Amino acid sequence: MMYSQKIKNLSESATIAISTLASELKAKGRDILSFSAGEPDFDTPQVIKDEAIRALNSGYTKYTPVAGIPELLKAIADKLERENGLTYSPKEILVSNGAKQSLFNIFQALIEEGDEVIIPSPYWVTYPELVTYSGGKPVFIPTNESTDFKITPKQLKEAITSKTKMLVLTTPSNPTGMVYLKNELIQIAEILQGSKIWVVSDEMYEKLIYDVEFTSCAAISEDMMSRTITVNGLSKSVAMTGWRMGYLATKDLKLLKLMNNLQSQCTSNINSITQRASIVALNGEADADIELMREAFQKRRDLACELIGDIGGLKVLKPQGAFYLFINIKDISKYNGDSMKFSQELLEKEGVALVPGKAFGMDGYVRFSFACSNDQIIEGLNRISRFVKL
Ligand SMILES: Cc1ncc(COP(=O)(O)O)c(C=O)c1O
Repeated sequence: MMYSQKIKNLSESATIAISTLASELKAKGRDILSFSAGEPDFDTPQVIKDEAIRALNSGYTKYTPVAGIPELLKAIADKLERENGLTYSPKEILVSNGAKQSLFNIFQALIEEGDEVIIPSPYWVTYPELVTYSGGKPVFIPTNESTDFKITPKQLKEAITSKTKMLVLTTPSNPTGMVYLKNELIQIAEILQGSKIWVVSDEMYEKLIYDVEFTSCAAISEDMMSRTITVNGLSKSVAMTGWRMGYLATKDLKLLKLMNNLQSQCTSNINSITQRASIVALNGEADADIELMREAFQKRRDLACELIGDIGGLKVLKPQGAFYLFINIKDISKYNGDSMKFSQELLEKEGVALVPGKAFGMDGYVRFSFACSNDQIIEGLNRISRFVKL
């Protein structure tokens, strides 16, 4: 049987070894505490669910336009204007089955065989896979604590070649939680000025932000607006991972049409009920609920960082966004920075599941998700403290 080379190259998630082991241990009756979640532990706000129920009961169950219903596209355009200072018209927006599909559409529509896509590392696992699947070549820029895991203008300049097609920026970042500040984005914009390089700005965690002000890449300048494809969605900030709602916005109407064609041939519109509910999530009606979640995340972040500070050998930068801690384990000499071995033994010995940094392209770290209760955070970090002392 001949399978396509393209599909064979697609990797299974690097976290699978750990999650399989966690499930096996759980099945054996072990008490497993997992900090590997990539989603909020909160339920979707009731006002949003109520609208979905109304839509369902009123028979809102048919195909819709591929890009999304006009009311939803308008709600997104209004949100981007009001909250991000970005002027997009509804026809410059495409709604997809999660930001994952938005990214898939973008890479498929823009990447030619051999094109280089710059991805700061550590990175969210999906980018390099999708870039490779589209025929492109991921070019990683490694970062570390000295720049809060953010690329510098110098690094970006050095990474650019004649084949560079695109830069992917994630702000706030998964897995580090770091946020590009306005002045940093201005410096990045200066490097890109005059080039034909696209920017994909993944702003999925935009609402989960602490201490700093969020700036959208496209808001930096006219030049950035025209080269940036803004990607966002409701999964993380409104606790709607299962609803599958993501979107992208671009000033390039031709590009939008091409991506619309692609989506029309594979998935068409997203779920009609989700679309109606999403309008409520975007128009401000759920803002109080969103703020309550954000505040809870901020308190959990503070608690977890304080506890980790007391554990000798572990280091962590306090994240300014998202719900992850990217913990440096390099001082635990026994593991020599081997994040897989560290995660595996931590799971076997203490029943604590983390995601090895290797999955995000950076060994020497583990990702701890604080999308869980304070009690779980306290108990989990107690166990981790015991483990690193062994
Ligand atoms: C940085 C980032 N972008 C995009 C996504 C995809 O979100 P969704 O497809 O649920 O909209 C995720 C989910 O983990 C993420 O962490």
